[in-house]
Amino acid sequence: MTTGSSAEHTRRDFLYIATGAVAAVGGAAVMVPLISQMNPDASTIAAGAPIEIDLAPIADGQIIKVFWRSMPIFISHRTKAEIEAARNVNLATLKDPQPDSARVKEGHEQWLVVIGICTHLGCIPLAHQGEYNGWFCPCHGSAYDTSGRIRVGPAPTNLPLPPYTFVSDTRIRIG
Ligand code: FES
Repeated sequence: MTTGSSAEHTRRDFLYIATGAVAAVGGAAVMVPLISQMNPDASTIAAGAPIEIDLAPIADGQIIKVFWRSMPIFISHRTKAEIEAARNVNLATLKDPQPDSARVKEGHEQWLVVIGICTHLGCIPLAHQGEYNGWFCPCHGSAYDTSGRIRVGPAPTNLPLPPYTFVSDTRIRIG
């Protein structure tokens, strides 16, 4: 086995384990869409190439994690209740006020795509955790809501949004 293919296997295993962990934390009894959705090879992705993700296998209520430019990206297929919860917030109560509509693409409100790095000190938050049922960062207790907005804890800002576009109703390109 060459060094290159070994590194590729290692990366694939890591991605599989990482996405599996997110699904387990979320309690979703569904299969995790595998990383075959990411079409460039690992070294090209690491160099910053755009990646395309097929959203079709992601079940309602499921959150998956993929990697783009070595950063974890959370893709949340939000339920109606999660969307409602994100919308029914008094923006004046938010530390980093932003309406849910500014964090999703029009016509695709069920999909939230965020960079999965806590804005406090950079830990990776856990999906479907915390009192706002979005993400919870166990490092120092920051909780994000179903729009990825900071609600409690020391994180100063919302989870950032990566650049992405819908290339079809069920496919996005990140980057
Ligand atoms: S790094 Fe997330 S709360 Fe500190």
